[in-house]
Amino acid sequence: MVSDLSKSQLVGVLYGGDSPERAGSLASGKTAADALVSEGFNTLLIDTAEPQAIESIQKIDVALIALHGPGGEDGKIQGLLEILGVPYTGSGVLASAVGMHKPTFKQLISSHGLDTPKWITLDPSLTSDEMSKVVESHVGWPVFIKPSAGGGSLGAGIGRSPSDFAHMLADLNRQDYLEYLVEEYVPGRPCSVGVIETSGRPEALPVHDVETDREFYDYAAKHDPSKRIENCPSILPKDVTERLQEEAVRIHMLTGAHGVSRVDFIVDDNGRSVILEINTVPGLSDMGNLATMAKAAGMSYPALVTAVLKTAFNRSGHGW
Ligand SMILES: Nc1ncnc2c1ncn2[C@@H]1O[C@H](COP(=O)(O)OP(=O)(O)O)[C@@H](O)[C@H]1O
Ligand SMILES: [Mg+2]
Repeated sequence: MVSDLSKSQLVGVLYGGDSPERAGSLASGKTAADALVSEGFNTLLIDTAEPQAIESIQKIDVALIALHGPGGEDGKIQGLLEILGVPYTGSGVLASAVGMHKPTFKQLISSHGLDTPKWITLDPSLTSDEMSKVVESHVGWPVFIKPSAGGGSLGAGIGRSPSDFAHMLADLNRQDYLEYLVEEYVPGRPCSVGVIETSGRPEALPVHDVETDREFYDYAAKHDPSKRIENCPSILPKDVTERLQEEAVRIHMLTGAHGVSRVDFIVDDNGRSVILEINTVPGLSDMGNLATMAKAAGMSYPALVTAVLKTAFNRSGHGW
């Protein structure tokens, strides 16, 4: 196995794949590969949905993982790379799996006293009446529904009443998710904090917050800049942003994440914040919020991608 980064190595940028988040991954991979080429790296784009992907992976010296969602962000590709002996960026198998499965992650952080919306998981084989009853007794209306292992706000939405909830379930049922997560609905501003290990320890990037007229930070608002206003650094009070940054670093460490991550929060009008999730492969495109946070910290996009690439070579001993 190669143990350090040099420009003579072949860097494979793993992107695409067959998860519902393929579109975002294509953008992450292409712009990250362009940045690496501009920095003089020998770069090969590998779409993991292609049948020859494994052969290509066996030719590379290091993998930059730009895959989002199941298959790429949940420990599976990380396990394959471990077995093949190819160094790769970001978190190992365990942290990737914990980060992908929101209920497991929520259980972990709440056991450490951190605040995350009250929740329950539902097996899709229950009828919608059965689910409604469970939700009513454990969470209460309104609720926020999302796939337990989803991303990009896909399949997510607000259930304000049992009939609303039944409509959302019908939509989700068409999509093959293994489990649904139903949370207490928390009104407020979506905020994110990127965490990056450039000097061997995790450090928070400036807080990014979003204002949108949509009901929540949904797929449309994430993909159409005219449907959102982004603030980075955040316009929230300093005591709140500093708290989010401290929590993000703590969560990165509690999850056992490595290299880079992004923690998503909701902050209400009184400054109360709740933790929604950790993304162990945050969107890496030049227009994405990690790049925006890096820019606010004075780090160019090519410098960010190079810093992410370097995380493949400084994995700590227990970084599984
Ligand atoms: N419990 C909740 N209450 C209110 N809004 C929520 C809740 N959970 C998620 N959201 C909204 O959905 C968006 C995406 O949720 P998140 O948990 O980050 O999942 P994803 O993996 O899809 O990004 C959030 O930015 C927020 O706008
Ligand atoms: Mg999110």
